[in-house]
Amino acid sequence: MKTYEFCAPCLIGVESIAAGEFRRLGFENVRCEDGHVYFTGGDDTLARANIHSRYCERILIRLGSFPADDFDKLFDGVRRIAWEEYLAPGTAFPVKGYSLRSKLTSIPACQRIIKKAVAERLMAKRRVTWLDESGPAVQIQFSIIRDRADIFIDTTGAPLYKRGWRTEGGVAPIRETLAASMVDLSRFRGDMHFLDPMCGSGTIAIEAALKARRRAPGINRRFDAQGFPFVDRAVWNRAREEAKAGEMPSPAVIEARDIDPACIRRAEANARRAGVADMIRFSVADVTKSDLSSWRGVMVTNPPYGERLGDQETAHALYRGLGRALGTLDGKSVYVITPDPEFEKFFGHRANRKRWLYNGMIKCSLYMYFPGK
Ligand SMILES: C[S@@+](CC[C@H](N)C(=O)[O-])C[C@H]1O[C@@H](n2cnc3c(N)ncnc32)[C@H](O)[C@@H]1O
Repeated sequence: MKTYEFCAPCLIGVESIAAGEFRRLGFENVRCEDGHVYFTGGDDTLARANIHSRYCERILIRLGSFPADDFDKLFDGVRRIAWEEYLAPGTAFPVKGYSLRSKLTSIPACQRIIKKAVAERLMAKRRVTWLDESGPAVQIQFSIIRDRADIFIDTTGAPLYKRGWRTEGGVAPIRETLAASMVDLSRFRGDMHFLDPMCGSGTIAIEAALKARRRAPGINRRFDAQGFPFVDRAVWNRAREEAKAGEMPSPAVIEARDIDPACIRRAEANARRAGVADMIRFSVADVTKSDLSSWRGVMVTNPPYGERLGDQETAHALYRGLGRALGTLDGKSVYVITPDPEFEKFFGHRANRKRWLYNGMIKCSLYMYFPGK
């Protein structure tokens, strides 16, 4: 069976978490670089990576990596790839990508060159002068970073953070992959009390429930590679059955609260679609008016950031209120993500550790408070 080199882009700051997951899945040659995790394997690995990955955005097959500081080198490098092994007659092959800190800056021009190189290779191999692209698509992706081109096939399609259950987002929902990463960093295991007191659409609580139940995040969704003729069709059922067999009942008590009743209704609907509504207690509550002094467990939360002028005071009052509601942090694990550099001042406690994480384009800190402080 063919062995591929896979590349899984992830949010900056979560590479080691994603790499740890792939190592636990038994993948080979796992290593990470800025925002990417690499590993090797065959068709089974391709299916298992897509179905199990909680932290990565997509699973790409890397077909080539070569210096390309001009269009000739880009063309030649792409033409050397054995495209005929991946693109059956009739396959459409759109091209997309980006360039950073490189001489080739025009994305449309790079797309055209790559498309032309693939087409010329296929036409030469098939001895035809025209290519039919009326069939299903295989997405070609490229990145050119510091004059080095990497050429990929995307096996995932809609990004992996689209698990299929969050059809109702609400205001400023966090990406499922980021929520899962924060849950992982909190060391939440299924035998603890978990609370998100500002749950919005419920993403963090739902990801905690999925983790506690050991449910593979992609078990119910489709991936582009399911339609690729060069991928063994049997691997998908095998990987899904393995994932189902790995699910466990969980004694975790997970709570999701929000001040806004509409958010709670949305979060409940999302949890139902994710199949974990039975694991989460939802309630409407203002965290600043709650008494959490005797509460013990793991709190992971994504408060409003107060990005716009004027909203900042409200955000600071909320951080102060959260600190007051919690009182002592003894026996509490608290994880709060915000871009606000003054969070600790208003919350009233210095974090045990801080970790950079990007929420979309916003550079945030995850303020981490360990129990026993
Ligand atoms: C950034 S959003 C959370 C988004 C959420 N992580 C998601 O993925 O949908 C912040 C949430 O805090 C809630 N909130 C604001 N003030 C609150 C308070 N005093 N008590 C509880 N929730 C509050 C808002 O209603 C909003 O849903």
